Amino acid sequence: TANDGYKLWLQYYPIESAQNWQKNVLSKVNIYGEGETIKIIKNELELASSGFFNTSPRYTDLSSSLIIGLKNEIPSNLATRVADGLGEEGYHIFSSEGQIIVSANSSKGLLYGTFRLLQQVQMQEAIDEEGIVEIPQVKHRILNHWDNLNRTVERGYSGFSIWNWHRLPRHIDQQYIDYARANASIGINGTSITNVNANALVLTPYYLEKAAALADAFRPYGIKVYLTARFSSPMEIGGLETADPVNPEVQQWWKEKAEEIYEYIPDFGGFVVKADSEGQPGPHNYGRTQAEGANMLADALQPFGGIVMWRAFVYSEHTPDDRHKQAFNEFVPLDGTFRDNVIVQVKNGAIDFQPREPFHPLFGAMPKTPLMMEFQITQEYLGHDTHLAFLAPMYEEVLKEDTFVNGKGSEVAKVIDGSLHDYPITGMAGVANIGTDRNWTGHHFHQANWYAFGKLAWNPWEKSEKIADDWIKLTYSTDPDFVAPIKKMMLQSHEMVVNYMTPLGIHHIMARSHHYGPGPWVTGGGRADWTSTYYHNASEQGMGFDRTANGSNALEQYAQELQENWGNLETVPEKFLLWFHHLPWDYKMKSGNILWDEIAFHYQKGVEEARENINTWNNLSAYVDRYRYEHVLSFLKIQAEEAEWWRDAVLLYFGQFSNLPLPEGVEPPK
Ligand code: GCU
Repeated sequence: TANDGYKLWLQYYPIESAQNWQKNVLSKVNIYGEGETIKIIKNELELASSGFFNTSPRYTDLSSSLIIGLKNEIPSNLATRVADGLGEEGYHIFSSEGQIIVSANSSKGLLYGTFRLLQQVQMQEAIDEEGIVEIPQVKHRILNHWDNLNRTVERGYSGFSIWNWHRLPRHIDQQYIDYARANASIGINGTSITNVNANALVLTPYYLEKAAALADAFRPYGIKVYLTARFSSPMEIGGLETADPVNPEVQQWWKEKAEEIYEYIPDFGGFVVKADSEGQPGPHNYGRTQAEGANMLADALQPFGGIVMWRAFVYSEHTPDDRHKQAFNEFVPLDGTFRDNVIVQVKNGAIDFQPREPFHPLFGAMPKTPLMMEFQITQEYLGHDTHLAFLAPMYEEVLKEDTFVNGKGSEVAKVIDGSLHDYPITGMAGVANIGTDRNWTGHHFHQANWYAFGKLAWNPWEKSEKIADDWIKLTYSTDPDFVAPIKKMMLQSHEMVVNYMTPLGIHHIMARSHHYGPGPWVTGGGRADWTSTYYHNASEQGMGFDRTANGSNALEQYAQELQENWGNLETVPEKFLLWFHHLPWDYKMKSGNILWDEIAFHYQKGVEEARENINTWNNLSAYVDRYRYEHVLSFLKIQAEEAEWWRDAVLLYFGQFSNLPLPEGVEPPK
């Protein structure tokens, strides 16, 4: 049967050899309470039950098989078994004398617990007496849509924006509801619906009314709406002559604007702000600091409980410093000067969402200012929608990295979950990869990146392998003969992309502006930081960006341990080699190969892996419905061809400098 992938990981496909507990659990359900969220829970149970077993649940308070209720609603003998400390969003699912109990302190917790229970049923994983206790480790788990008001999506590759501004507010499309369901099912609790390169118009009543309609639709799913605030809005839509953050009129304008927004959206989440970066207006225009800018907006939102997510992606081509260093230099001196309702949003790496980057040196460097993670789910630099890259291992690599700022064991994840510096607010943002494509994300497998983001935002310590395993089972099949090879393919896919795009710490050699495909030759254009040669520095002497004390010394922004570790050629992980060091072509690698050969082998390996994926997929055609099968197959073929394109282009280009032949085993360019 045709499956266009619209149902994501909420397939609720038939469970053929169901065990008794699975068949039973949805048969007689006792749900306490009422309200919108409870209705949603019932709807979900019905969808799942009909999908799994072609039946509907019966609601009864007698001898039920499933009890769903708040801790203070369910019978006290069960309530005493519910874990403490669930907070506002946690849940506990456990079994007791043949019954399954889902309990929480809020209906939102019940919704999360219900989704989890249904996932367990689909995955055929039973609930034991102790059960499952889940409490989110991060408070704000937010998708950032880079969606414009004309429905184009910046760095979006899966169609247009799903927000149909023209039909809003009167038409609430089913897709908004399914979007909310999908997010709630993985614990995402916020969405910033507009591009960081913001249009001030979204803050006018015309659009606020539309945003409010979305907020109304999302609210029962526990999802708050956020908007991007263009710093110059007071001038563009407010008629003021300045947007200077210390100007009382400007401050007053934002206060009134905040009040107005909260009239439309009483639980409005707050603002995401890109300022002083890539042409966006900001406090620099008035000689003010990032803190002065952020604090002005924070003061306006404070009476209503809103927060400001102020992005640290601040850099300028007029600053001669290595772009790697600029955000750190700008923000660290401001540590402790931000208002309590500001959280600084930092990209995972210091350059820009490269296939691989060392973690951003700001993590660990601002103990008095909450920092949140910004990951990119959309694949701006990883082959857009057509190249398979399961990103959980990339996110995990960054989260597990040790910053050493409070000694060993100061992982980035501890900055993000707030435990390292006792942050009062915590957050994780993911730049969405969602569009109007029937399957939401272009590549069917990129649904897994949306899913993975949700799982890691909930628990930054979650393992990629578990995420992949669950996602495959929920989306396709629990058959081990399918799960094992697909999981392997997914888990290796990010490294494969690194191999054929930017191995060994090479970075930013993508084509200009669209960033699809190779462009190590990109020069000129008036901005050093927007050329590739700036990053790879290839010449007859060798290649790489020297970020040691002999070069830009970006390394000094990391803890002493890392300066030593990454600064030393003996100890630097080879995956970061050319990120931090400039080396001659005949530099001896650990493998015994010279640098040039090693680079070539990585590209070749990436090509071979991409080809191998086609075989893997071909062998599994029996497990996948025709539509998804063909769709994925054609994308895998594109990827294998383009891996060759990458290899050939990059090796031909660098070969002009190395003047060395390709080593044996690397195919000559086509
Ligand atoms: C990248 C990307 C831009 C985006 C920017 C940002 O530079 O290419 O499209 O606006 O990041 O994160 O602000």
